[in-house]
Amino acid sequence: MDVSSIRQDFPTIRNGKGVYLDSACQSLKPDCVIAKVVEYYEEYPACGGRSVHSMGTRVSMEVDETREKLAAFFGCDDPSEFVFTKNTTEGMNTIARGFGLKKDDVIVTLDVEHNSNHVEWLAMESDVGIKRRYCKTSIDGEFDIEEFKKVIGHDVKLVSMGQTSNVTGCTIPVKEITEIAHDMGVAVAIDGAQSSPHMSVDLKDLDVDFFCASLHKMLAPTGVGFMYGKEERLKELRPLIYGGGIVGLTTYDSVKISPAPEKFEAGLENYSGIIGASAALDYLSKVGMDNITEHEHHLQRLIQKDVEDIKGLHIIGPDDPDKRGGVFSFNVDGLNSHDIAMMMDNMGGIMIRSGMHCAHPFLVSRDIDGTARASVYLYNDDKDIERFTDALRKIVDTFVK
Ligand code: ALA
Repeated sequence: MDVSSIRQDFPTIRNGKGVYLDSACQSLKPDCVIAKVVEYYEEYPACGGRSVHSMGTRVSMEVDETREKLAAFFGCDDPSEFVFTKNTTEGMNTIARGFGLKKDDVIVTLDVEHNSNHVEWLAMESDVGIKRRYCKTSIDGEFDIEEFKKVIGHDVKLVSMGQTSNVTGCTIPVKEITEIAHDMGVAVAIDGAQSSPHMSVDLKDLDVDFFCASLHKMLAPTGVGFMYGKEERLKELRPLIYGGGIVGLTTYDSVKISPAPEKFEAGLENYSGIIGASAALDYLSKVGMDNITEHEHHLQRLIQKDVEDIKGLHIIGPDDPDKRGGVFSFNVDGLNSHDIAMMMDNMGGIMIRSGMHCAHPFLVSRDIDGTARASVYLYNDDKDIERFTDALRKIVDTFVK
């Protein structure tokens, strides 16, 4: 993988706009994605799926093509199993609300979930009376299949888990979890927001029932994600939002809902985002997801080596850099995570994230009131890591007595 040539494809890097280490939040965008968005606005800025004029037809064709690419990227043959959403959260909410859960039905999550796979279940508990059960992870957030076997049972209706944590970077063995769940007749939904940008994900092989992710973490324009569901699951799932575009015939008193994917895509969509995602998927496919994973492991090992001698530094997550995916969460005794992030930006234009990362329950349960987090992607190089660790060392030397 030629990182220096990849870097030339990203305008903010080319133009020296600082060291971006916040890709777990949102990735940078390469020229080809920006060009595709501009193409949409300059050449065919119409809506899809409705108007039969030339611009409308072009939009529909581009959206269809993106859906086909998306299915292929995730190892599937049927594009109609892929629904465009604005983000992972929207997809997970659609599943929570539409799966048909009733009072006392049990759902299982991890204890390290992001709010995208937590808050909707709290709402379902108060609105519908479902019951929630957690699969406990280790103090560092590592998954234990024995803990999972303790919480899964015939009373469980749905296992809903994040594949990779946005705080610790730990990845769970989805295939093994799904096999166990399916043996019990339990469906599996996966929040893939932090896994799909960083590793190859083959949904047919994993055999999950649902999978949601955010394409804006995968080089695509902001505000575009997807929800995958097996054909038979999408048939049963109720839409979250109703309106135009999802219906066949309506009368004053009745409605005929279209099949998936239209069923879940009410109203006008983020066409420029979806069409831009097509270029992002091409770009990632060309680089190769396995190469990206390997590159990120290399960067994590580099960080690990560089921070070893920083006094008072604690890693939040596994010590093994190969287990942390793209994220490096840490704290330094005597420093607040937001202060570290602000100083990094002010001193060296190094952009990291700080705080609770929308994963309050996990951090609070470990008595941690926030972390600083550097997250890497395919465009980060060794020099970025050096600038990050040099700045961190300077901050610690200056402010920690
Ligand atoms: N979930 C995203 C993050 O961890 C927004 O930054």
